[in-house]
Amino acid sequence: MSIKPILFESGVVKMLDQRRLPTEEVWNDYHDYQGVAEAITTMVVRGAPAIGVAAALGAALGARDIAARDFDGFFAQFEKICAVLAATRPTAVNLFWALDRMKSCARGNAQSPLPELKERLLAEALEIAAEDERLNRDLGRNGAPLILDGARVLTHCNAGALATGGYGTALGVIRAAVEQGKQLLVYADETRPFLQGSRLTAWELLRDGIPVTLICDNMAGYLMSKGEIDCVIVGADRIAANGDVANKIGTYTVAVLAREHNIPFYVAAPLSTIDLSMVDGSEIPIEERASREVTHVGAQLLAPESVGVRNPAFDVTPARLVSAIITERGVVSGDYRQGLRQLAEKGG
Ligand code: MRU
Repeated sequence: MSIKPILFESGVVKMLDQRRLPTEEVWNDYHDYQGVAEAITTMVVRGAPAIGVAAALGAALGARDIAARDFDGFFAQFEKICAVLAATRPTAVNLFWALDRMKSCARGNAQSPLPELKERLLAEALEIAAEDERLNRDLGRNGAPLILDGARVLTHCNAGALATGGYGTALGVIRAAVEQGKQLLVYADETRPFLQGSRLTAWELLRDGIPVTLICDNMAGYLMSKGEIDCVIVGADRIAANGDVANKIGTYTVAVLAREHNIPFYVAAPLSTIDLSMVDGSEIPIEERASREVTHVGAQLLAPESVGVRNPAFDVTPARLVSAIITERGVVSGDYRQGLRQLAEKGG
């Protein structure tokens, strides 16, 4: 069983503190939406679908504490709570998708007594979490045929169980291929500066007995040139209507290298990551994070303290470098504009 990074037990949201992995497995308790918002901002929980799940549960906690007499009073406060949760991180569209779904749920139950409405919101948040894991399993099954027996697969960042409601997207495809009996070797990019590859991907694959070898980000080109990588698979934070993919910084570099070496470059993401309102990747907001993530590893300073720093947390890989986008409703390649729209229209 792959790990689930977010649980709801006895009225409390519990999150595995991903900042402390791999050395410590610490679960934090969250009793209110402000705590959940801070957990998203400070990366206790991260990964596009997991951020959406956390925000939905945060909204449900916030709803629980609203004292209002009628729906209008309730909803005005609920919208403010959702706005706080929405302001935590800008790039992963799953965050906004999940909060929109929570607001629709509230509106759809406007006639219910408020205690019942609050229960419905909690049920909706729990369904977003459970559904994400189910969809990842479908997505994994759809993508597994692309991964051949014996393949050496490079991944970047962590698009695993830790980044989702469970099972993972890119690592979900890898898990599904392994469940089908294929022997794989995963190369995990360490993923500077936050080290999601070395701290999280390596941890969760080792935990599940899937062979993994860690490399520094700047080693991928060398391994490709030696014929030691057969395909690349990554997750996504937001995919524009034309198939441009925003994902963890460094993904674009890997995609360019893969094209140079004729290696397939796959993106695995649920439909909740696809944002058809954005015409292309240039419209996707890219988060800039604190310089300390670049100048330090943990408490250790690695650069002159006064040096100027850039720290964009994501980049955009143009659709032309993407061999296929794997979703729970099918695999799209070639004309992404048409293919993604068709998948979205296909319905659940
Ligand atoms: O900054 P992070 O750790 O939230 O970034 C995560 C990624 O870029 C993942 O690859 C992406 O969210 C897909 S997770 C299934």
